[in-house]
Amino acid sequence: MDINSICVCGAGTMGRGIALSAARAGYFTLLFDLSPAALDKADSEIKKQLQEAVARKKMTAEQSRSTLEHLHYTSDLQTCLADIFIEAIVENTAAKANLFNQLAELNHSECIFASNTSSLPITEIAAAVNHPGRVIGLHFFNPADRMPLVEIVVGKQTNQATVDATAALARAIGKTPVFCQDSPGFIVNRVARPYYIEALRMVEEGADPAQIDRIMEASGFRMGPFRLMDLIGHDINYAVSASVYEQLGRPERLKPSPLQQQKVETGQLGRKSGQGFYNYDAPPGKP
Ligand SMILES: NC(=O)c1ccc[n+]([C@@H]2O[C@H](COP(=O)([O-])OP(=O)(O)OC[C@H]3O[C@@H](n4cnc5c(N)ncnc54)[C@H](O)[C@@H]3O)[C@@H](O)[C@H]2O)c1
Repeated sequence: MDINSICVCGAGTMGRGIALSAARAGYFTLLFDLSPAALDKADSEIKKQLQEAVARKKMTAEQSRSTLEHLHYTSDLQTCLADIFIEAIVENTAAKANLFNQLAELNHSECIFASNTSSLPITEIAAAVNHPGRVIGLHFFNPADRMPLVEIVVGKQTNQATVDATAALARAIGKTPVFCQDSPGFIVNRVARPYYIEALRMVEEGADPAQIDRIMEASGFRMGPFRLMDLIGHDINYAVSASVYEQLGRPERLKPSPLQQQKVETGQLGRKSGQGFYNYDAPPGKP
């Protein structure tokens, strides 16, 4: 099946980067969010990023203009018509399945439902969708417009046409797809989990987050665990930690940290809320 139009659902941290990748590659791209404020924020962030890319000569002014021409915004579900839906909404199986079912009512019988979930089993999302054969995992990394890797997660019922079309699309928007099993945390989030959990344990024991970050970054990691968790968003990272922990049978070594829960309960979600382990309204780098 040929994909000509893409609808990205959820205009938050991930959705806006995915939409930017798709529009930049010349696809008609619709960015849908229930929140008009999220759409406004996505629009201004994308424009800012494009301006910076042109200023740094990473892109021509013509490419930037063409990208914006391919990008459209809506907060009305009824206008969401496309060949593939890539959802990046809340990390919750029922919410994702419910969205796909609503979209299926409005769209043609071959459209694909791709989930950007970080950790929820694709087979479980698909089981709650009326067309499970057309449900697949397409897991981008943050920032989604820059990170080349995508994990393609094939559920038990995902059909081959869906796998082929999704992999072709990933390549067409400049990504490198890797196929992985529908297993807890897929590949990257499973391997990365102890990076966050152990660092959080050290802070529970009295260590300083900024110092841990400095040391990890000096030793070659691109981002220390706390800076990275702030980028991901603590609501998302906590949901992923809890989901991987549960799916693996609650191993003590992967038990989510109370500090994660605290961050979520106090609304300190990281960059997106202005405060996480660092304060983003203060001079950069100040914890
Ligand atoms: N943050 C990351 O680093 C990261 C990386 C890879 C994958 N993911 C996954 O991507 C998804 C989104 O994460 P995020 O960090 O972008 O979240 P986010 O909180 O930044 O954005 C979510 C957006 O979805 C919107 N939304 C919620 N319910 C909706 C609905 N029913 N219909 C339309 N819009 C709706 C919200 O208004 C919000 O703007 C999650 O499944 C997460 O696990 C996140």
